[in-house]
Amino acid sequence: LFAWLESMRATGPVTYEPTTNKWHIFGYRDAVQVLEDAASFSSDLERGGPIGAVLLASTMIAQDPPEHQLLRSLVAQVFTQQSVELLAPRVRAITQDLLDKVRPAGYMDAIQDFAYPLAMKVISELLGIPVEQRPAFRHWSDSMFFRQHERDESQSEQDEPYQRAVAARQAMRESLLVLLQERRRMPQHDLISQLLVAEVAGKRFNEEQLVGFCFLFWAAGYETTVNLLGNAILCLDEYPRDAERLRREPDLWSTAIEEILRYSPPLLGVTRRTTGEVMVGGKQIPAGQSIRVWIASANRDAELFPYPDHFNIQRTPNPHLTFGRGIHSCLGAPLARLEASTALPMLWQQFPALHRVRREPLQWIEGGAVYGVRHLPLEF
Ligand code: HEM
Repeated sequence: LFAWLESMRATGPVTYEPTTNKWHIFGYRDAVQVLEDAASFSSDLERGGPIGAVLLASTMIAQDPPEHQLLRSLVAQVFTQQSVELLAPRVRAITQDLLDKVRPAGYMDAIQDFAYPLAMKVISELLGIPVEQRPAFRHWSDSMFFRQHERDESQSEQDEPYQRAVAARQAMRESLLVLLQERRRMPQHDLISQLLVAEVAGKRFNEEQLVGFCFLFWAAGYETTVNLLGNAILCLDEYPRDAERLRREPDLWSTAIEEILRYSPPLLGVTRRTTGEVMVGGKQIPAGQSIRVWIASANRDAELFPYPDHFNIQRTPNPHLTFGRGIHSCLGAPLARLEASTALPMLWQQFPALHRVRREPLQWIEGGAVYGVRHLPLEF
C-alpha cells in the first residue's frame, strides 16, 4: 500500500480513475486545500452505502455549512477537552481490569481481548449505553460494518448479510429512541442526557438528529480507536528499540503516539464531492465529482515530513492529517489521544516481555477505508 501511495505522489498526485469514476489526491498540500475548502468540496454524500447513509445523513459528518456549524457546536458545548480529562481515571481503571484479566494466560488477542473491550467500554460509558445493552450494540455495529468493509458491488441488496445489516440498523435505532425517552424522563451523568438539553441560539437537537449522533459517535469512536491501539502495537513490534526506549523514557509517549497516528492512520482517507469546477494541483476537476483524499499518503509527503518512511518517535513538528483538517476535523481526537496515552504505557510497563506471535499472517481489514488488523496475537 505505502509503496503504491509513494509512486502515486511521484507520478500522479491528482489522478482521475475512470473505472471507479473517482479523483484521488495523494499530496499533502492538495489534501489540505480540499479539506479546508468546504464550499467547493462538500461532505454531503451517499455515505457508507445505503446502510450507513440513513443513519449518518442527519449527522454533522455528512453536512455542509451552515447546518454543520449548529450540530457541531451543540456537541462541542458538552463534549469538551475538560469533559474528556474527567474520563482519565475511568480509562485507567478499565485498562487495568483488562490487563488483569489476560495476565494469567500470558497470551491475548490484542484486538479482541484488549482494544475492542476498552474502546467499547469507554464510548458506552461516555454516551450512557447501559451495560446490558452493550453486547447488542456491538453485534449490531459489527453486522453493519462487517457488511461495509466486505462490500462487494456485485452482490444484491437481497442477500443475507445485507438484510442482516438493515435489521441491525433498525434495531439499533429503536433501542436508541427508547434510551432517549428514558433519559428525557430521568437524566443521568452521560452525554445523551446532556445533549438532550444542549442549546445553541435557541436551537436543540431533534430526536432523529440525536439518534444519528449516537450512531456517529459510536461508529467514529469505536473502530478507529481499536485500530489506533492495534496499529500502535504493530509499530512498536516492528521497532522494538523504540518500545524499549519508551519503557525507560515514558515522557516520549506523547510524540510517539503522534508518530504512530502519522505512520499508521486508522482511516486511510476521507471522501468529498465537488460543488463546482475547481483546480487542484494544476488539474481542472469538474462539478459533482467524487474526491478521495488519501490521508495515509499525505502523512508521508516528504515536503512536510523529512524521511517520511522513517518511524521517528521524537518527530516534531508532526502536522499529520490523521484526524482530518478544517471544519470536519475529528471531534473525538482528545478522547482517542487519552485512550492511547493511557492504555499503551500501561501495557508496555506491565508486560515487559510483550511480543507478537508470528505463527499466522496478519489479517488486514478489507475495503480500503480502514487501516488495521482483525486479530493481533501477543505473548507476554
Ligand atoms: C471526524 C478520524 C476517533 C468522533 C473525523 C475525521 C477523521 C477522524 C479523519 C474527519 C472526517 C472527514 O473530514 O470527513 C478519527 C481517528 C480516530 C477518531 C483516526 C481515532 C484514532 C474519534 C472518537 C470520536 C470521534 C473517539 C468520538 C468520541 C468524530 C466526529 C467527527 C469525526 C463526531 C465528525 C466531526 C465533524 O463532522 O465536524 N474523525 N477519529 N472520532 N470524528 Fe473522529
